[in-house]
Amino acid sequence: MMVRFLLDGEVVALDAVLPTATLLDHLRYRLRRTGTKEGCSEGDCGACTVLVGTLDAEGSAITWRAVNACILFLPMLDGKALLTVESLGAAGALNPLQACMAANGSSQCGFCTPGFVMSLYGRCIGAKGAELPVTDVIAGNLCRCTGYGPILAAAQTVERLPRDDAAMVATLRDLARSETLSGESAGQRWFVPRTAAALADLLAAWPEARIVAGATDVGLWVTKGLRDLETLIFIGDIPELQHIDESREGLTLGAGVRYADAHAAFARLHPDLGELVRRIGGLQVRNAATIGGNIANGSPIGDGPPALIALGATLTLRSAGGKRTMPLEDYFLDYGRQDRRAGEFIEAIHVPRPGANDLIHISKLSRRFDSDISAVCGAFALRVEQGVVASARIAFGGMAATPRRASACEAALTGQPFTLATIERAAAALRADFTPVSDVRGSAAYRLDAAANLLLRLWAKAQGEAVSVLELEDALGGA
Ligand SMILES: Cc1cc2nc3c(=O)[nH]c(=O)nc-3n(C[C@H](O)[C@H](O)[C@H](O)COP(=O)(O)OP(=O)(O)OC[C@H]3O[C@@H](n4cnc5c(N)ncnc54)[C@H](O)[C@@H]3O)c2cc1C
Ligand code: FES
Ligand code: FES
Repeated sequence: MMVRFLLDGEVVALDAVLPTATLLDHLRYRLRRTGTKEGCSEGDCGACTVLVGTLDAEGSAITWRAVNACILFLPMLDGKALLTVESLGAAGALNPLQACMAANGSSQCGFCTPGFVMSLYGRCIGAKGAELPVTDVIAGNLCRCTGYGPILAAAQTVERLPRDDAAMVATLRDLARSETLSGESAGQRWFVPRTAAALADLLAAWPEARIVAGATDVGLWVTKGLRDLETLIFIGDIPELQHIDESREGLTLGAGVRYADAHAAFARLHPDLGELVRRIGGLQVRNAATIGGNIANGSPIGDGPPALIALGATLTLRSAGGKRTMPLEDYFLDYGRQDRRAGEFIEAIHVPRPGANDLIHISKLSRRFDSDISAVCGAFALRVEQGVVASARIAFGGMAATPRRASACEAALTGQPFTLATIERAAAALRADFTPVSDVRGSAAYRLDAAANLLLRLWAKAQGEAVSVLELEDALGGA
């Protein structure tokens, strides 16, 4: 079956598609659209930024998103619209944003420039995340020569640009499919199901198939790991998996919800969770990365799992045989090993809303503030009733082979008066909970100190920051 998408409003139909062929390679080597650059091939630099548009649920408008073409596989583009940097200027002329970039000296070698232009153009046309501060919009774009001042100056000069997508909307409606799209080429087979039931049936037939959601992890297995994936099931076009249900009780999110789409609901659940999501990759990554993928990947340094474990989240897994639900922490068995049976997929995540007496603190420590992976991510949910810690849920990423609760620390808090002395004892207990490794992101000693200090931050926060963290560290003897 053909993969069909719109490029500048024209239908492109591709036969015999290799499911792990990237959009970036297709643009550069097949379509000769070489304006889209290859910097890192791992989603980090934004040089390959393009805009991908999806028809909204009503079929009346296009939602545009800036994404990294280097880790986007071609079948993921079926039924979507695509804009590259070549789409912007009519007949070789610069569009107003490009003209402002030139006038402000926003480019030196120019290698990163098309990526910046596409991220900023997305902002100008109201693409996903356009409401964010401009520094967040370009946090996923790296420039090694110009510096960001002139780029920001250009961005502030052009804030809105008109777009008329009516013709594209009509063509996208014609391209919409309700049946599973599939293909086989050079020993690789692939499927793009449209319903959760079809996904369950496919996984029953192909239990070894690799599920691909946003490909922000799987993409790197291919571009950097050079892994061969035989059977792939792309789940980005299943509306049931993209549902967000926000109620007084909490949030239920389909596993296919992208971080950019969940950002506001997470921030309403708790501001720390919103801030954490803001720091997951750059906007291009959050526009593709799903919550289910973040959990299923099982990385010890994934940011979503520790926060969601502390908040008491549960996971629903589904297969052709039925569903089962478990506390999120039980899903992570060991490094690289999760409790997912053959034929199962993660269907949804449920996160209870914190209560009035719940003290929440979620903090990510990384070498760079934006768009970096955690060295340590700590998440704390303490219920304090009449001055006593009634319950404590504490989870960390970066401290063990899996995202994990800190049971000794929790025990040192539970039932104790909520005082600095209790916090000090609980911080010391973290050493019984974890034996972290030393790696490029931080030494074991740094990680243990940092984890203890995050608990002190929670105390400082509860005191309205009246006590400085430095004073607390002194009180704790530099723990
Ligand atoms: C530049 C960059 C920066 C990043 N920064 C961060 C960061 O700051 N914090 C962070 O936590 N992560 C970060 N990541 C990692 C990644 O973005 C996240 O882990 C992301 O949430 C993965 O989601 P995905 O949809 O892209 O998963 P995919 O890559 O599509 O899949 C990942 C894994 O999950 C499986 N899977 C996906 N969905 C399901 C499902 N519903 N059921 C069962 N299995 C499933 C896949 O088979 C695969 O094993 C970054 C990645 C990049 C490239
Ligand atoms: S080439 Fe660097 S993000 Fe794609
Ligand atoms: S202008 Fe050279 S990398 Fe940005």
